[in-house]
Amino acid sequence: MLTAGAAMLVAFSQPANKTTITTSIKDSVIYGKLPADSGFEKTIKGKQTHLFVLKNKNGMEAAITNYGGRLVSLLVPDRAGKMIDVVVGCGSIDGYIKAGSSYYGATIGRYGNRIAKGHFTLDGKDYSMFLSNRPNSLHGGKEGFDRKVWDAKKIDNQTLELTYVSKDMEEGYPGTLSVKVVYKLTNNNAVKISYQATTDKTTVVNLTNHSYFNLNGEGNGTILNHTVQIDADNYTPVDGTLIPTGKIEPVKGTPFDFTTATTIGAHINDANEQIKKGGGYDHNFVLNKHGFTTPVATVKGDKTGIVMKVYTEEPGLQFYSGNFMGGANTMKYGDRDGHRTAFAMETQHFPDSPNQPQFPTTTLKPGQTYRTQTMYKFEK
Ligand code: GLA
Repeated sequence: MLTAGAAMLVAFSQPANKTTITTSIKDSVIYGKLPADSGFEKTIKGKQTHLFVLKNKNGMEAAITNYGGRLVSLLVPDRAGKMIDVVVGCGSIDGYIKAGSSYYGATIGRYGNRIAKGHFTLDGKDYSMFLSNRPNSLHGGKEGFDRKVWDAKKIDNQTLELTYVSKDMEEGYPGTLSVKVVYKLTNNNAVKISYQATTDKTTVVNLTNHSYFNLNGEGNGTILNHTVQIDADNYTPVDGTLIPTGKIEPVKGTPFDFTTATTIGAHINDANEQIKKGGGYDHNFVLNKHGFTTPVATVKGDKTGIVMKVYTEEPGLQFYSGNFMGGANTMKYGDRDGHRTAFAMETQHFPDSPNQPQFPTTTLKPGQTYRTQTMYKFEK
């Protein structure tokens, strides 16, 4: 928890009208020079965690911890020029540990999203993983990349490089996987995340970022009045355990049609079988195009006017409307993480691809390099 006093990481003033919340991260605590009693300094299995702050020339700031490669906060200017923290996160490493199964802000791996019954075969061999979301394995198993302390290197004031070596058979996955994730806060107000990985044995990889956004600012109510547009004519419907059925179905005429800007709340409680299975939106969208030329998704906060455009080289996008959020955790400004008070746009390959050969492959072989980029760009 953030507390007042010398060790406070994030100063905030919260006027009566919460839409004008202003936040700033004090200069004195940037670049890993945190006081020893700060909530982001912790030793886990002999490795040290820190909070790193990136700044761009427009005053945007991104705070990232090497515990799980997590985006902790992101200060973005709103229409009035106020800085709004659009990433919902915890105020300490202990907060993140407690909220583990929510994956706040985390880098997810080795396999983001679900693998049916925690099992797949690769080159004729069977592999099993921990059922972190029974009856399936979710987001890398028991101790995925979100719970590892990454090695961190500040490249410059706008760039942080994180590296992690996942050992052969860690969490049941074959091959030693060397992973590099670079966060860059660009001068056109984007957080660009570049992923790279190599392996010494054939394996599967699906890396993503699990930031929870509220474009009205953390602690400013639900995201139901945000508008969302997703450039996807199709999605992958799921079974009752959120594993894709294998079909690719049109969104047209369903609550999944975000081809034009629609509020998240408009159809989230519809009597639709897929909506019921997800408890809201928790589905993979099959992107019409990927690459950095056009956004795959555009989201707008109704109170701040902040617009987030998502660009990715990945073929899929898991749109998660915070359905499992239930107020169990206290976030960095002291607000509870209530139901649907944030959303995630997880760029990825499709869930359960290792068991669904008709989906784009997630197999990585020795000699190949996994490379993918995603960018969250902010406008007002
Ligand atoms: C992903 C999953 C969801 C949920 C969240 C975190 O979005 O698809 O079902 O696990 O992560 O709670």
